[in-house]
Amino acid sequence: MRIDIITIFPDYFAPLGVSLIGKAAARGDITFGVHDLRDWAHDVHRTVDDTPFGGGPGMVMKPEPWGDALDAVRALGAVPEAAGGSGLLVIPTPAGVPFTQQHAARYAAEPWLIFACGRYEGIDGRVADDARSRMRVEEVSIGDYVLAGGEPAVLVMTEAICRLLPGVLGNAESAADDSFGFGRLESGGPMAGLVEGPSYTRPRLWRGREVPPILLSGDHAAIARWRRDSALRRTARNRPDLVARLAAGVPEPLDRRDREVLSEAGFPVDSEDVAH
Ligand code: ADE
Repeated sequence: MRIDIITIFPDYFAPLGVSLIGKAAARGDITFGVHDLRDWAHDVHRTVDDTPFGGGPGMVMKPEPWGDALDAVRALGAVPEAAGGSGLLVIPTPAGVPFTQQHAARYAAEPWLIFACGRYEGIDGRVADDARSRMRVEEVSIGDYVLAGGEPAVLVMTEAICRLLPGVLGNAESAADDSFGFGRLESGGPMAGLVEGPSYTRPRLWRGREVPPILLSGDHAAIARWRRDSALRRTARNRPDLVARLAAGVPEPLDRRDREVLSEAGFPVDSEDVAH
């Protein structure tokens, strides 16, 4: 996979050389290209922003450097058309579609992603429109809060995407059991639509607290059921919004034990079934 990032702060992306993603890049599984937007500025001061038409606070990023930068990066032709085509342009913005684990999985299947990091009050609106006439463009938000720029959002998304690439995680199974259960590229799995319950390691007894004995039982089916129960309880506690989806059978129908656990956690679901 190739990932190009256009930013006015190339140094911001030093963390991409660290940890599992850094190792994947060193192996050549991921290629990063980090580009300084100011290289495409049109004046000696390397100006990339200007005051907004129509008034209002802050500054807007000028279209000319962005248009030229995107043309130049696209012309890198990093991925031949035959191998998946012209790249997907991702623009992080608090006004975008919420970025989810499904986005991460879908982006992980792309051969070439281009991220355009806006600062200030965003990028002149014509830039995305112009890019859309040449390539696929998606505007995404990493949460309902406003960052000073898209750079941290790109680091977040890159981590979520790259850890799903084959060979990046140490344990091939661990993404499949992730919260939300959309690890790897398939949806579904034991935790589909749930957040994960807690995990435990040695020692068995710590500060008077025992590891749940079932985890030491060797009974894999019982352990899997216990893990699903604890994921349901934590989802009920922390993410009532997800329980509403589960109750509607999304992404998968609940079984009787699921309904029991949710009822005990204060979310009676389809009580007729639970009674039987
Ligand atoms: N840029 C500023 N805030 C952002 C957010 N919440 N998500 C993505 N990009 C952003």
